Amino acid sequence: MRTPLVMGNWKLNGTKESVSALIKGIEAAADSAKNVEVVVCPPTIFIEQVANLVADNSIEFGAQDVSTNVSGAFTGETSPVMVKEFGAKYSLVGHSERRQYHNETDAVVAAKFVAIQANALVPVLCIGETLEERETDKTFAVVETQLKAVIDVAGIDALENSVIAYEPVWAIGTGKVASSEQAQDVHAHIRTWLAEQSKVVAAKVQILYGGSVKASSAKELFAQPDIDGGLVGGAALLVEEFVGIIEGAK
Ligand code: 13P
Repeated sequence: MRTPLVMGNWKLNGTKESVSALIKGIEAAADSAKNVEVVVCPPTIFIEQVANLVADNSIEFGAQDVSTNVSGAFTGETSPVMVKEFGAKYSLVGHSERRQYHNETDAVVAAKFVAIQANALVPVLCIGETLEERETDKTFAVVETQLKAVIDVAGIDALENSVIAYEPVWAIGTGKVASSEQAQDVHAHIRTWLAEQSKVVAAKVQILYGGSVKASSAKELFAQPDIDGGLVGGAALLVEEFVGIIEGAK
């Protein structure tokens, strides 16, 4: 069976003080939820602080983004080797905010996916449709195109050691959560589509739902057969909310 995974994407938020308070606030819940993997993705500058704070608890951490390059003249970038050195397990890739605000194309996302795996990190591949795409019945086509772009470069078997996060763009930071039926519908479609290429990958890959997940909606979302956890933005910054989401995944 797939391990439930609750992942906080802190985006561009936090101070040294709030990072400590947040980790200290969630660690007991993470440790007691034995069947749930709890992960936080802080801004890169807080990775060393987080690495120290999680050394003696069960919380894992990841980067929000890494470079396709491991070193060299790439000003401002962070190498996957560097985040690995500090003990990161994951890196997000293809988040809609990266696609939208940093012009990350499917080709860039595929190259980053490969670089993340090549450096022994687990990619969390974010996919999802805009409101306009949903309203014009393009949801399935959009997620298939986004997945295919990675599979064409990395190969289907590469997805066995990855996580997929379905994040409908219209539900991110809007307070508009997809209903559990809407989310399950897309998750099931993704898994069926993957199964046509590899039954092993389809059975193994965790598919997280992301987009305004709250403590109040987590349990019902995670109870869906193809929803294996959540990628949480705003609610991951609030101890009580994030703890409630961890509880919902038990
Ligand atoms: P919100 O939970 O704030 O909608 O953000 C979701 C997200 O983008 C997680 O990566």
